Amino acid sequence: MHPTVPPSPITLTVEAASRSYPIWLGSQLLSQAGERLKGLLPSAKLLIIADTAVWEMHGETLANSLTAAGFTYHLLQQPAGESTKSFAVLESLLEAALAHGIDRKTTVVAFGGGVIGDLAGFCASILLRGVPFVQIPTTLLAMVDSSVGGKTGINSRQGKNLIGCFTQPHAVLIDPSLLATLPQRQRLAGYAEVVKYGLIADADFFGWLEENGASALASEGEQAAAAMLHLIQQSCAHKASIVGRDEQESGDRAWLNFGHTLGHALESALGYRGTLLHGEGVAIGMVFASDLSTALTGLPASVGARLRQHLQAVGLPTSYQHLLASDADLSVANLLNLMGHDKKAEAKQHHQGTLSFVLLDQLGQARLKKDVPLALVAQQLEKQQA
Ligand SMILES: NC(=O)c1ccc[n+]([C@@H]2O[C@H](COP(=O)([O-])OP(=O)(O)OC[C@H]3O[C@@H](n4cnc5c(N)ncnc54)[C@H](O)[C@@H]3O)[C@@H](O)[C@H]2O)c1
Ligand SMILES: [Zn+2]
Repeated sequence: MHPTVPPSPITLTVEAASRSYPIWLGSQLLSQAGERLKGLLPSAKLLIIADTAVWEMHGETLANSLTAAGFTYHLLQQPAGESTKSFAVLESLLEAALAHGIDRKTTVVAFGGGVIGDLAGFCASILLRGVPFVQIPTTLLAMVDSSVGGKTGINSRQGKNLIGCFTQPHAVLIDPSLLATLPQRQRLAGYAEVVKYGLIADADFFGWLEENGASALASEGEQAAAAMLHLIQQSCAHKASIVGRDEQESGDRAWLNFGHTLGHALESALGYRGTLLHGEGVAIGMVFASDLSTALTGLPASVGARLRQHLQAVGLPTSYQHLLASDADLSVANLLNLMGHDKKAEAKQHHQGTLSFVLLDQLGQARLKKDVPLALVAQQLEKQQA
């Protein structure tokens, strides 16, 4: 009998202007992390910044793999949650890293969801003016979106993600088997970003998701795992391609904000307390932007209908009507203001002016439209207030 050789991971390459790096993707890959990273990093010293809950569940596998490959590591843990992306936590991590005596060849390893990835990436970018870092994402959202592309940062009292920088990682290692422990609601939230890639860039992929998305999300077993692997691979390929064309968001990268204009406004109105997860806001926002597209670009209404049907089929929201009973201010005026129109009085009284939206010309084709009439946006919002 031959010993079981682990299947080699799928490798994608991100060719960003500032750096090219691999995304490795494969089931059970966490236990190969040490071997994978060995040839790539400048030294055997690591600083792991981990989500406390994730470390408890999966830390041992990572630690064993790293140690077996000759790495030594210092571990810093933080709970997930938006309040972790703060100056106070950033300061404590930086001081702890320096007190431990890291050097310029020490690699920061981010082990967690998007919260830890954004925070650890930012730490790496400013420690000793920049040390290497590696992303090991553990949520679906982080696997298909936040770990790829090099946006790092923390929140400000003035808003989310307002402090940070672009710093590409040296590698991204994705092990979908870690999703086995992720709560279903979190999986679904990440899945909204997957649907987004189909809508903005790949009509065939959207069709594939209509056929296979629900089973990838809901069930266990080999077929579901293969479907999950495929949808992560497709998503990373799309993100890599967009980041390769436009690392710093001066053009096509803005497409990734499809569904985010209203999504962010809803998240902000509801206060990041778990009432609405980011991906749930994106799902609602994508339906909204599709309806706007039908009014403005001639996108067939059938695309919006397919989108609604698919989101409902997997269990994602398509409107914010169910949130109107919350104590948050979801009035049309407040949502318009949060969507970037700061002239409050004008928005309330005249519905004049314009907003920027990423719209669809057709399924699989996006464009940024900077002059969407505020009155039309208000009119669409009013439909949900009933
Ligand atoms: N940098 C980017 O390009 C980018 C893109 C999108 C989002 N983001 C950021 O990502 C953050 C959201 O990330 P997120 O959705 O991954 O949330 P998160 O990091 O808060 O994780 C969500 C929850 O899942 C838990 N968890 C993580 N992995 C787990 C696992 N394998 N098993 C069980 N539980 C697990 C966490 O402890 C947490 O409770 C936001 O701060 C957002 O701004 C960044
Ligand atoms: Zn998003």
